[in-house]
Amino acid sequence: MAVLSKFNQKVVLVGDGAVGSAYAFALMQQGLAEELVIVDVVKERTEGDALDLEDAQAFTAPKVVRSGDYSDAKDADLVVITAGAPQKPGETRLDLVNKNLKILSSIVKPIVDSGFDGIFVVAANPVDILTYATWKFSGFPKEKVIGSGTSLDTSRLRVALGKKFNVDPRNVEAYILGEHGDSEFAAYAEATIGSKPLLTIAKEQGVSDDELATIEDETRHKAYEIINRKGATYYGVATALMRITRAILRDENAVLPVGAALNGEYGLDDIFIGTPAIINADGLAGVIEIPLSDSEKDQMAKSAETLKQVTKDGLA
Ligand code: 2OP
Repeated sequence: MAVLSKFNQKVVLVGDGAVGSAYAFALMQQGLAEELVIVDVVKERTEGDALDLEDAQAFTAPKVVRSGDYSDAKDADLVVITAGAPQKPGETRLDLVNKNLKILSSIVKPIVDSGFDGIFVVAANPVDILTYATWKFSGFPKEKVIGSGTSLDTSRLRVALGKKFNVDPRNVEAYILGEHGDSEFAAYAEATIGSKPLLTIAKEQGVSDDELATIEDETRHKAYEIINRKGATYYGVATALMRITRAILRDENAVLPVGAALNGEYGLDDIFIGTPAIINADGLAGVIEIPLSDSEKDQMAKSAETLKQVTKDGLA
């Protein structure tokens, strides 16, 4: 008997590597989407994952999960792209640009040709550039293309600050802005815990600027620490992707850090970059421009400059 639900939503996942399969698992655990179709050049893996994920459903909730191809995007609400070469130890995200742009261009075209009319969520690295390229290759409105941006980095920062100040990381209102990569930065000047400025709390508790700078630096480098130990990162980013997915499928108007198209915010345009934004069923409903301090403005400008340069070279 079919299970009745007021939602009837379909997600196509492109890329069934470590990030993709962790995302599929998170999606199933959360009971999001009535149908998940997994697409990968390694077809057998998608078939195996579909069978494996199906085994979890007597413990969670019955959903359709199956292996498919790009034509399945035709009536999907969401296409999530995790396909691409991952970073090897010692590589930066930007080092992946040429390889992954090539892979991306072979994905976006058949998806658009299928008649897909939903929202793209991009997580493959370098994510800000691949998000921009997805927008370019697809010809979609900017609001229908969202990158994972600094969602993972922001979570990393909140967890570290939560430990430092002994509060639940979900109650830390602090953002990593800019590139999801080496030029990102923590917007400490505007961060709060319980509406109280983080910098005031730090002063009261004797937490020095150097300690905060160390937390920012460790956040920026955490992916390298994980990759050096286990070769890849996936649970964190998969959960961030699941959170973005929920905001879209449940039309939440959630404020999340993502890779968003800017239209003059932070003095920038023609770029996708990490910032808080409002996410709902239509995709990007608005960018929340944090009023930055002067030094943070410089960092944002530098981060954007890095992305624009690599984008220009990569898409030339
Ligand atoms: C991460 O930050 C590698 O971009 C990936 O975990």
